[in-house]
Amino acid sequence: MFGITVLVSGGGTNLQAIIDSIADGELKSAEVFIKKVISNNKDAYALERAKNAGIKGEVVSPKDYPDRGAFEHALKDAIDESAPDLIVLAGFLVVIPKEIVASYPQKIINIHPSLIPSFCGKGYYGLKVHEAALSRGVKVTGATVHFVDEGTDTGPIILQKAVNVEENDTPEILQQRVMKEAEHIILPHAIALLAK
Ligand code: GAR
Repeated sequence: MFGITVLVSGGGTNLQAIIDSIADGELKSAEVFIKKVISNNKDAYALERAKNAGIKGEVVSPKDYPDRGAFEHALKDAIDESAPDLIVLAGFLVVIPKEIVASYPQKIINIHPSLIPSFCGKGYYGLKVHEAALSRGVKVTGATVHFVDEGTDTGPIILQKAVNVEENDTPEILQQRVMKEAEHIILPHAIALLAK
């Protein structure tokens, strides 16, 4: 068995892709299970998805702590308590503190909605990535799964998948296509590869 802890901030479609693959996909044969879901946002729909799947959800919000240091300490405690084999950032929009990166070398992965090194780094997250891709006029974009190091989106790349940009795309339409055709496929696949 290979236990993962999944960190989320929003809608949780990538979390759902993992849950579905554990139920009836390659994560089932890789004997992967989710130990805990942690959200920095108490209103994240991802928490609802965890609850519906019978998975423990925990909120660690910066709003509940006096300063950044206290929040980061609580986040590390919440992760440590689950003793994960792998930490998966599935739309987690908090920069992972150095102490956590140092404690889990090669054991934290992130999904990013572009072909790194394009449209990544500080300020590039969620819809902003797709807005930037459209305004630059690229014809191909995609998604990347990479290990997390001390930089922002700088760690070693594990998997990438390309997605075509279509003529009348809006950031929202492009985001949906990148999720469906790339993110929801390569994130479970990367976890399966690491589990095996
Ligand atoms: C996803 O597109 C993910 O790649 C992105 O946030 C979205 C979360 O969606 N992550 C980043 O931009 C990280 N820099 P989800 O909550 O539906 O999985």
